[in-house]
Amino acid sequence: MPRAPFITFEGVEGAGKTTLARRLVEWLSGQGVPVLLTREPGGSELGKHLRPLILHQPLDAYAELFLLLADRRQHTLQVIEPALQQGTWVVSDRYADSTLVYQGYGRGLSLELVRQLNAIATNGLQPDLTVLIDLPVEDALARANDPNRFEAETIEFHQRIRTGYLQEAAIAPERYAILDGQATPETILERLQAIIRERFP
Ligand code: TYD
Repeated sequence: MPRAPFITFEGVEGAGKTTLARRLVEWLSGQGVPVLLTREPGGSELGKHLRPLILHQPLDAYAELFLLLADRRQHTLQVIEPALQQGTWVVSDRYADSTLVYQGYGRGLSLELVRQLNAIATNGLQPDLTVLIDLPVEDALARANDPNRFEAETIEFHQRIRTGYLQEAAIAPERYAILDGQATPETILERLQAIIRERFP
């Protein structure tokens, strides 16, 4: 049996990823599709312990990178791959692109290094579809409501995140779908449903 689809959600803080991912999963389940909703950081058993450290503990950029990668490796091997192999769709609120963009474009670590380490952390797994919710950083941050070290970063940091995502989407247009985060939640969901129907008939 070919493995089930793996879909990831990406975007800046406050873009509305979490709500949209939840609504996608409700819609898929309603159609009888077996689906698992998960997230990073924190999707693995190890990650439950790492998440508060990553979000709140002052960390050097490489230390932050290594904690995120440790969570991703465990998450991929213990949660995502077994589900996909059983035929369960997996929807993850953030995955490897978050590290490329936040630790690479945002913190300034080498993109090449982050790509190489991500290849190990993901065990080579690539999302079949990455949904990027894009909107101006000011609008997104005005809606963000989960105080953590990343939200407290400068506007320039968040601009680099937005630009980084758009550049990555331009490099891999067959994997990315960009949704306008300023549209109404209903419109965004409808557009996403159309994309899912088209890509996974
Ligand atoms: P998340 O809980 O998804 O927060 P939000 O809902 O605000 O997007 O993610 C927490 C933070 O962790 C988020 O600000 C981005 C950051 N992060 C990275 O910097 N690198 C990563 O690889 C991941 C997965 C998250």
